[in-house]
Amino acid sequence: MNPHRWSQESYITAYKFAAAAHQGQTIPGTPLPYIMHLSFVSMEIIAALSEERGRDETLAIQSALLHDILEDTPTPYEQVAAQFGQAVADGVLALTKNAALPKSEQMADSLHRIRQQPPEIGMVKLADRITNLQAPPPHWPADKIRSYQEEAITIYAALKHSSPYLAARLWYKIDVYQNYIKAN
Ligand code: NI
Repeated sequence: MNPHRWSQESYITAYKFAAAAHQGQTIPGTPLPYIMHLSFVSMEIIAALSEERGRDETLAIQSALLHDILEDTPTPYEQVAAQFGQAVADGVLALTKNAALPKSEQMADSLHRIRQQPPEIGMVKLADRITNLQAPPPHWPADKIRSYQEEAITIYAALKHSSPYLAARLWYKIDVYQNYIKAN
């Protein structure tokens, strides 16, 4: 048996850990619990893993469920490393924006660090932006919607090698997102 194949148990362990850490948080602009975002990102990963074999599936799925835990909760890196191993903790750290940098540099810095990680971590970033390219909040001005799409194209270009399946899906979502730009 391949230890890198994902298991229901490794999913449940990471999901519970994330649910507890993000408890009380909601999806911005909605009353929906934040865990929904993590569920969607991990769902995108599972769909990709069924098409692309040979991945460290446990690394991909646990990193997906935990990808916002260092950025958005007080959970320390050491605790993630102790519970899920250093590969997951390092991956999540790469997916975490460095708040000490100017906001305009944070995405490029994170993408640079993600590219130094195994491809499973790039998959999580692709899945994250796929999930976030839903209808933008009504209060977003047109230029913000446009720059969010441009940022998605930057993510696509930087990480498409990590998963052709997710890259194609992200490109589709970028294309559909164009409708929200025209509508403004
Ligand atoms: Ni996210």
